Amino acid sequence: MPRRIAILPDAVADQIAAGEVVERPGSAVKELVENALDAGALHVRVDLEQGGKTLIEVSDDGCGMGREDAVLALDRHATSKIRSAADLVGIRSFGFRGEALPAIASVSRFRLVTSEDGNEGTEIGVTGGRVDGVKSLARQRGTTVTVRGLFFNTPARRKFLRSVPSETRAAHDAVATLALTHPEVGFELHIDGRSRLMVPPDQSPDERLAAIWGHDLVKTLITLDHAVGSFRVTGFIQRPGDAAPTGRRTQLFINDRPFRDPFLVRAAEAGYRSAIHPGDRPSLFLKLETAPGEVDVNVHPAKLEVRFRDRLGAERAVEEAVREALGRIAAAAVVWANVDRTDESFRTDRADIEGADGVLAFFEGAPSAPSELSLLTDLSAPPALTQLFNTYIFYAESDRLVLIDQHSAHERVLYEEVMTRIQSGGLPSQRLLLPFTLEFTDEELEAIESHGEQISRIGFEVEAFGGRSVVVHAVPAPHPRFDAERCLRELVSDLARGRFGGWANRLERFAATYACRAAIKAGEVLTEQEMRGLVTRLFACALPPHDVHGRASMVQLPREELERRFGRR
Ligand SMILES: Nc1ncnc2c1ncn2[C@@H]1O[C@H](COP(=O)(O)OP(=O)(O)O)[C@@H](O)[C@H]1O
Ligand SMILES: [Mg+2]
Repeated sequence: MPRRIAILPDAVADQIAAGEVVERPGSAVKELVENALDAGALHVRVDLEQGGKTLIEVSDDGCGMGREDAVLALDRHATSKIRSAADLVGIRSFGFRGEALPAIASVSRFRLVTSEDGNEGTEIGVTGGRVDGVKSLARQRGTTVTVRGLFFNTPARRKFLRSVPSETRAAHDAVATLALTHPEVGFELHIDGRSRLMVPPDQSPDERLAAIWGHDLVKTLITLDHAVGSFRVTGFIQRPGDAAPTGRRTQLFINDRPFRDPFLVRAAEAGYRSAIHPGDRPSLFLKLETAPGEVDVNVHPAKLEVRFRDRLGAERAVEEAVREALGRIAAAAVVWANVDRTDESFRTDRADIEGADGVLAFFEGAPSAPSELSLLTDLSAPPALTQLFNTYIFYAESDRLVLIDQHSAHERVLYEEVMTRIQSGGLPSQRLLLPFTLEFTDEELEAIESHGEQISRIGFEVEAFGGRSVVVHAVPAPHPRFDAERCLRELVSDLARGRFGGWANRLERFAATYACRAAIKAGEVLTEQEMRGLVTRLFACALPPHDVHGRASMVQLPREELERRFGRR
């Protein structure tokens, strides 16, 4: 019988490992930056082209490698970081599997230049796992790894890469996360020749967090520090009043090692209980510490996940730490309750908008021609309008009582207006004197990319700003109390989550989503003039009595019905 089992050649084994270790350019960036940090670098520079698809280069001023080590480093399971499995317990270095360099080199055109003494250096070129040559050259102490044409020899894998912006974001996040773990190390990230992230060495952990997450977000955080059982949880969580449905950041560490764990994020959210609105997602920066034997860091090829011996204990510790931190600020909550969210934090300052007065025209503008469906018989002598519960507009005609839902009516009005104007070239927008920046998730950024044309047609002028940031230069102005920032967040979140499905036409779906988010809300006080403008425009719509969800925007009570109920008929 012929033998059926064979040992795979190293090159094949490396390519298979590469499939797990190097999923996308961002994972190669992560591995290479981790190596630089493990080598004790004080400066790390990362260069990317085309989201890392064409070029990734990571340079450091760490300990470097001598010639023999450099050659050995490209072998599978070659590592300087552990000698036996026992060393894994309590390991402090990022690396220990000895897989990253050979894996990356097996699926790219790879070059390693390194020097241990800052004098004599070694250059090794590898193409698709095959060593092209080893040369001597002069180099300062440290290491540079250059990766070109990632996955050039594994077309199936290459096909799975996402868009350049999406890969860029993943790589940016990998660098940002590692920059948070080592505030004493300086980092530079250059994307297609432009500097996208630059943090100096010797920062304090707080300074580093502010530099990476931005001052605006960091201002909304409170500290937490709580020990439960075998865990201690420190870090920062967002004030409940500042949590929003989108744009959250989360970062978890276990014994200083970044990791992902949706269950712990959920445990933290459980700690908020009813302190936040149901759809809001608070930003979290949580550092867990526990005895080394309590956690296994070698359960994931890319080391992104860990296993806890006492998972419930970890979850309980996080939940309680969050609750304890929120309890400490309970007194402050009284202050927030007095702050009107729509007036303060969630509002674009009207003074920022040029010609803000122009938006008043929206409510004043009379429709060009009332449609036949108009239910108001005589617009020139309209009945008195009353606002009920800050939500409904009420009036009486000779033969009926009418209640209009202000939000759904405005939704209908905006929807029709947007449909017409999008098709005929777009809505006018207001340029902001002070552009503002918003953060989004990957899915949301993809929604922004794929709806870019429509978003600009309704009057938002947005520009990608590296990482997950988007700068907003101009906004639409559908009504005086319009909160542009909130509207854009909600609109993008809806698009990303596929809400408002069921519209056959993409443009209609977009218009409906925008209309819902931009419309005045229930609970907003309207002036008589605003009510009149809204009612007038509602009756100019093609389909007044229903909002874009098909719900009634108007309820009528015929006079006859009243008379019947009072026994007059
Ligand atoms: N930037 C670097 N500076 C110094 N040594 C490095 C660098 N990158 C890799 N090495 C060496 O190469 C070895 C293999 O790296 P890698 O394949 O990433 O495995 P691991 O990090 O798990 O040990 C490392 O253990 C280290 O000794
Ligand atoms: Mg490594």
